[in-house]
Amino acid sequence: MSKVYFEKVSYITELLASGQYSQVFVLVDENSKEYCYPILKEYLEPHKLIEISSGERNKTLSSCNLVWSALTNATADRKTLLINLGGGVITDMGGFCAGTYKRGIRFINIPTTLLSQVDASVGAKTGIDFQGYKNHIGLFCEAEAVLVDSVFHDTLPQKQLISGYAEMLKHGLIANQKHWQDCLDNGSNSFGNEIIQQSVAIKEEVVKADPTEKGLRKILNFGHTIGHAIETHLLGTSSELLHGEAIGIGMIAEAYISKSKGLLAESEFQIIVEELRKIYSSPKIEKASLNNIKRLCKQDKKNENGNLNMSLLQNIGTAVYDIPVEEEVIDQALAEIL
Ligand code: GLY
Repeated sequence: MSKVYFEKVSYITELLASGQYSQVFVLVDENSKEYCYPILKEYLEPHKLIEISSGERNKTLSSCNLVWSALTNATADRKTLLINLGGGVITDMGGFCAGTYKRGIRFINIPTTLLSQVDASVGAKTGIDFQGYKNHIGLFCEAEAVLVDSVFHDTLPQKQLISGYAEMLKHGLIANQKHWQDCLDNGSNSFGNEIIQQSVAIKEEVVKADPTEKGLRKILNFGHTIGHAIETHLLGTSSELLHGEAIGIGMIAEAYISKSKGLLAESEFQIIVEELRKIYSSPKIEKASLNNIKRLCKQDKKNENGNLNMSLLQNIGTAVYDIPVEEEVIDQALAEIL
């Protein structure tokens, strides 16, 4: 697994010195270029910048084209390094571009959003959206290293912290009751090294047990079947949500399904909903759109043989996976949250 270094963006200097790279490229979007690149730049030797447009709507094949073209035009060889500096879109897409360019060049993730630090940049999932489906095309591909530094949090709007917080709460819900409580005690205003490290450690333990998501890793998808569908449905509209904001709502819906399936006790369901509702509010979605959300749920990568499978909660700190969920139960969950 990729090694994750905490509070040490400066460590890039040592990584570059030991990597014997022929060329170094830094992938940014307009936000990470303006706010984060100046922090990183002082530690870099000669390098080239590749800039793409920010946001989930640009996590596409045409942005990959830009990256592959920039590498090709600069005659980048297989000893080239790509440094992905940005949020989850940059680390997912940059990893995918690196993993496929000339059958794979090395890359280092420097996640700058909380969401990417605790989730997207760790665990070797890379990819892009395709035909409106999230992360539909991609590959498992390890970063050389991941450098997590809270110095970048000062560059983030509060909304971004709240988005990352959802994935931290998820780590507590699925695997570690103490982390859930620690996250609640920490709140969503600022995040120190210790709580981020705790969250990453939970994810790493799950990924180590099942790197390519044949089984256990699916628990990391709690809240994501419905959350992804809502996120995708609203993409490009005035109600567009950040990934974690959609996952916050998805976790309420999937906690409801966990209860409906007799897995989660009513008392724990109430605690989860009460806490998540303080932070995440449901978007306005027309009744007529519910079928589209269900259609999107049917494209979820956990489904098999036409059955819709979800990762659900047994209690706070324990999740189960591959639980078949009937369409009527999804209808009820959507009615509950929307
Ligand atoms: N974000 C879920 C996973 O990495 O498996």
